[in-house]
Amino acid sequence: MGIMAQVKAKARLDIKRIVLPEGDEPRTVQAAAQIRAEGIACPVLLGAQDRIQAVASETKADIGGIEIIDPMTSPKAAAYAQSLYELRKAKGVTEEDARKLVQDPMYYGIMMVKLGEADGLVSGAVHTTGDMLRPALQIIKTKPGLKVVSSSFLMDCPNKNLGHNGLLVYSDCVVVPCPTAEELAHIAVSAAETARVLCGIEEPKVALLSFSTKGSAKHELVTKVQEATRIAHELAPNLALDGEMQLDAALIPEIGASKAKGSPVAGHANVLIFPDLQAGNIGYKLTQRIGGAEAYAVLQGLAKPCNDLSRGCSVEDIVTTVALTAVQAQGC
Ligand code: ACO
Repeated sequence: MGIMAQVKAKARLDIKRIVLPEGDEPRTVQAAAQIRAEGIACPVLLGAQDRIQAVASETKADIGGIEIIDPMTSPKAAAYAQSLYELRKAKGVTEEDARKLVQDPMYYGIMMVKLGEADGLVSGAVHTTGDMLRPALQIIKTKPGLKVVSSSFLMDCPNKNLGHNGLLVYSDCVVVPCPTAEELAHIAVSAAETARVLCGIEEPKVALLSFSTKGSAKHELVTKVQEATRIAHELAPNLALDGEMQLDAALIPEIGASKAKGSPVAGHANVLIFPDLQAGNIGYKLTQRIGGAEAYAVLQGLAKPCNDLSRGCSVEDIVTTVALTAVQAQGC
């Protein structure tokens, strides 16, 4: 079974309620119908009822039985606005601001997740990463014990000798442009958790990547990765984690054995931690575009799961992201 078939099967075992703020967007409406038909999650569409019904007719999507909530007319909007005001008043949000914000489906959806009326959220067919991420960071916040929200890409590579039967987790490729050593350590611990929850990798092997292996080069960038490795060991003493190391030392057994002798990770890494967002974002696109890997993105470290789509996403991309979100919600 491929990784997404496994994730969908897991999602079906404990159905979660996932809110889709872009509820009148045609691909989202079609995806909601497919999610319900496949029994992956219980989707909730946000937006005007008549508009969503019209899109469903145009796209021939059967949305019978799918809940639709219009933030503009919802009887819960006042209570959500009050909660939002309480959460953000110290940051300058007024009661009037909060009332206006919850009319925006993105904020309404985030408040549903915050208040436990949905288990997770998926958006991004229309909105940018920042449009969803900013309210999620401000309102949902990080999981207890974690200081940073980041992302992982599940890379399903054609070469099944790499990682965990060809599956590698890359982090961070979306969120934190220039992490400190401490943030990098938190990213490493989060990515190991993502590998366990979403990929079924019971013993993640986490490599903190650099252009140096075990002191082969001296530079402040290398020192940062060494420091991140030390902090990550303190955060998760039982995790198989090592660094700093070059990509080939992390993945190829013979090179790992020669460059990082005795490492519990080198040569067998299945979780790769990139030193910054430029390296991570370029790395996942190289693996996808040149290496022919399938790539699936999730955010990690939020107290409740919210995930982003690319604006060029297909209906199936939305379905798979909802399945990933539902499985993350099972672990919350
Ligand atoms: N983890 C936890 N909390 C965070 C994080 C984080 N990574 N980043 C910001 N926050 C918190 C802040 O502490 C702040 O909280 P507060 O308001 O309660 O004090 C709140 O979130 C907002 O912080 P800002 O600094 O105002 O947020 P900013 O405007 O910088 O936006 C964002 C944060 C959107 C994540 C920004 O870092 C960003 O744009 N990252 C890159 C995203 C991107 O463009 N990725 C690449 C494209 S996507 C792709 O290729 C698939």
